[in-house]
Amino acid sequence: MNPPDLLSELRHPVDGSPLKWNAEHGTLVASDGQVIGRLVDGIPRFVSDEHLESFGDQWNRYDVAHDDEDRATFEAKTGVCPDDLAGQRVLDAGCGGGRYAKVCGEAGARVVAVDHSRAVDRARKLCAHLDSVQFLQADLKHLPLEAASFDVVFSIGVMHHDADTRRVFDAVAGMVRPGGRYSVWLYRRNQWWQECINQSLRAVTTRLPASILRPACHVGAVLGGIPLINRTLNKIVNFSAHPNYENRVCDTFDWWAPKYQHHHTVEELLGWFREAGFGQLQVLPPEKTGRLYRRVYDLNLLIGSGVNVTGIREKDAPTRG
Ligand SMILES: C[S@@+](CC[C@H](N)C(=O)[O-])C[C@H]1O[C@@H](n2cnc3c(N)ncnc32)[C@H](O)[C@@H]1O
Repeated sequence: MNPPDLLSELRHPVDGSPLKWNAEHGTLVASDGQVIGRLVDGIPRFVSDEHLESFGDQWNRYDVAHDDEDRATFEAKTGVCPDDLAGQRVLDAGCGGGRYAKVCGEAGARVVAVDHSRAVDRARKLCAHLDSVQFLQADLKHLPLEAASFDVVFSIGVMHHDADTRRVFDAVAGMVRPGGRYSVWLYRRNQWWQECINQSLRAVTTRLPASILRPACHVGAVLGGIPLINRTLNKIVNFSAHPNYENRVCDTFDWWAPKYQHHHTVEELLGWFREAGFGQLQVLPPEKTGRLYRRVYDLNLLIGSGVNVTGIREKDAPTRG
């Protein structure tokens, strides 16, 4: 990364005015002299992990990027073919360990990848070979970036981890240029009994120290490798059935550790897109295929599955959420 390039693009998250770079102190300063960010280890930072600490831990611990799978998942969850991204300015809103920022950077996009947590450190390492991918540690609700300046904005599995999913959705929507694309994937609301079981269990797991929860996730990862069990029991208690063991541990921890985990409906997400001034809306189908899978998905029985919408910003949409 070339820090001065991104530093010159940073803006005050409230009034949009340029930030001054103080090289002597390594700080980012607003026009009133207030220090609002710092460059630490090559990354401009405006927040610390806070309630998202489990993600800082998770993404720096597990190695879960797989090039072919990540390209396919990116395309399925954004409706965008990576090959069409060359030269585009792209925002990865909630980059985690950086697997989708890498897909975009390798496709020739100019990427700004943002996360609230120390995950950005791991993401930066994963994309170390890509000068065109730059990282920020910031809250998506208060982005230090110019509004309406991105051609493509995507957010995969992120906004439901904030206290207020809708606030994040609106703030990030403001980053899309008129005519630009916005794709969002959120957790799907399951059947009422699944929601009850999940909330009761998460009330316990989110209070456990990572030193206890992490080994417990290995139990989930073992179960996730057992045929039949990994298609039935995890409709009641979630654990990952990913083919790779380390991904299963990571995905299972990702489910049980975060403080907030809201579940949403397709209608809800479509409404947010319309109210934020987006058109040409498409509900994206799940990545996995198969008649039985689709039937169970449509019945909202698949824990951890998503609601996924993409749309184009109309010319007269509001610019800041
Ligand atoms: C489940 S991970 C998904 C990461 C990545 N999109 C992926 O799919 O690999 C969710 C990420 O969203 C980040 N996140 C959640 N709320 C955020 C917010 N308000 N601002 C910035 N990042 C946020 C978390 O720190 C976490 O790394």
